[in-house]
Amino acid sequence: MCGIIGYVGSRTAVPILLDGLRTLEYRGYDSAGIYVPGHSPVKAVGPIDNLAAKFAESIPGTTGIAHTRWATHGAPTEANAHPHLDMSGSIALAHNGIIENFRELREGLISQGIKFDSETDTEVLAKLIGTLYQGDLLKAVQDSLSLVRGTYGIIVTSTHHSDKIVTARLGSPVVIGLGIDGNLISSDPSALLAHTKDVVYLEDGECAVVTKDAYEILTLKGKRLTKTPETVELEVEAVQKQGYDHFMLKEIFEIPEVIENTIRGRQILSKGKVKLGGLDGVFSKLTSASRLMIVGCGSAYYAGQVGRYLLEEYAGLPTEVELGSEYRYKRNLPDKESAVIVVTQSGETADTLASVRSAKEQGILTLGIVNAVGSTIARETEAGIYNHAGPEIAVASTKAFISQLTVFVLLTVLLARERGMSLEEGKKIVEELNNLPDLIRKYLKNTSDIKTVAKKYAGYRDAMFIGRKFHAPIAYEGSLKLKEVTYIHAEAYAAGELKHGSIAMLDENFPIVALVPQDDVYEKMISNIEEVRARKAPVLAIATKGDKHISEVADDVLFVPKVHPILQPIVSTIPLQLLAYYIGVEKGLNVDRPRNLAKSVTVE
Ligand code: M6R
Repeated sequence: MCGIIGYVGSRTAVPILLDGLRTLEYRGYDSAGIYVPGHSPVKAVGPIDNLAAKFAESIPGTTGIAHTRWATHGAPTEANAHPHLDMSGSIALAHNGIIENFRELREGLISQGIKFDSETDTEVLAKLIGTLYQGDLLKAVQDSLSLVRGTYGIIVTSTHHSDKIVTARLGSPVVIGLGIDGNLISSDPSALLAHTKDVVYLEDGECAVVTKDAYEILTLKGKRLTKTPETVELEVEAVQKQGYDHFMLKEIFEIPEVIENTIRGRQILSKGKVKLGGLDGVFSKLTSASRLMIVGCGSAYYAGQVGRYLLEEYAGLPTEVELGSEYRYKRNLPDKESAVIVVTQSGETADTLASVRSAKEQGILTLGIVNAVGSTIARETEAGIYNHAGPEIAVASTKAFISQLTVFVLLTVLLARERGMSLEEGKKIVEELNNLPDLIRKYLKNTSDIKTVAKKYAGYRDAMFIGRKFHAPIAYEGSLKLKEVTYIHAEAYAAGELKHGSIAMLDENFPIVALVPQDDVYEKMISNIEEVRARKAPVLAIATKGDKHISEVADDVLFVPKVHPILQPIVSTIPLQLLAYYIGVEKGLNVDRPRNLAKSVTVE
């Protein structure tokens, strides 16, 4: 949430900062701003293009800091846009996170006669740094942060120190990029790729002074630290649209390749087994776990729900699933043999991260299913499985969700084969999993039926998604996708629940999207469809190829290939993602950046 980028080097800073902001825009797009020492901050409400339009003539200066905002405190206005200045107007700060005690700090500063220009928590920190500044910018930052409660990833520069940027982190990511003609600081390595792949990650409680050709890392208390730079294994093309109209569409069409990357080197076909190198160090602990707790937020939580069904069904392993925002605050009663598995694309989600920390405090084994390599959660969990889905830029998760489901298939087979799954069954699954990318590739060659159906359903105000067993969480994921990308009111239910209340809402204007593959609950789903048809609700079914009966009970059908039941949720999800995408496009919406959202939810 919010993106920060700073540059200190020998080139003009503004174009570099604008490019960086465009890459970071997915983290928030309520407003944006740039500060170059010696000039007033330039700010604009809305997307980065609005800010860029204000730089018809670039301003000189080879140091600068910039920010793209997801509003937390104060409306998305120019006054509230970052960077914020201290009272002398010579120190500027951009911030990702929340200063929790900003009200009391603000009152103290106001009583000293300091005036504020915005409603933000960030400006309080800028003003605080200004009051504590006595010629040493780093010290002023360190002293100010010792008074602050909350989370931050900050970059600070000043007219008096225009050759340096001070940065610090607690709870919000900061990465330093080591370039040839200057150094950069960002909240996400993707914004550095055009300049360098050599990076240094800051950990919580660390700060740094970055200049054109050097950087120094310290603790907030001033102890010097030595860190070896790491290489980011990403190509710049991975964060570009490459001819697609939107990142969301590109990312859906990347799914076959993503599954290949997720399973590469992780199957032993002849033995019907799975090998997950990231779990080697904890393998015996994991296989002796008597209970698993899966934790995640949003789509990652729904992936966890599917994971629970699979682990219980095939590995016979008792599994629970919790939202990160609940797990971290509730009383958890783990036994010694339980393990917590957190699922997260970004690896930075505040509630998921807090859940990791809370589980660790209880001495529980914590594992991560994480996409963003080197992210905070990847580093703080004891062991884990990387998704290898590549960067996901569209705010709505698509390929990362599919990769999370794929990892749960791998994990299920790994544990199930230890717990009695037959060689034959193991082989069947890993072989089918191996063939899945090509099957999906073929499926994605013709999605015209989804486009047609999207046009028909784009005019409805409401929708209800239903499914059973493995497909109950997929119904929830489908409804989340539709909501976030199209703003259509959508709900989801395990289909058997409808008659306990929600069916009261249905009529001819309230369509149902029914996930009805030919599995062991098919007959039950057909009965549920009959029930909603009796209330005149239009029915769009996601069914498996070869189902001859479904067209008799549904108004529209989107067929998907029939695969092993453990893989069916992966396949059934894709038309739901495309449905949301095409409806969003039909409605003329910004599908990559839906209103009010940000990709990485680093606030609580
Ligand atoms: O980065 P994470 O996987 O931890 O993010 C969790 C959710 O914020 C995320 O899945 C969100 O629900 C997406 N917008 C869904 O499309």
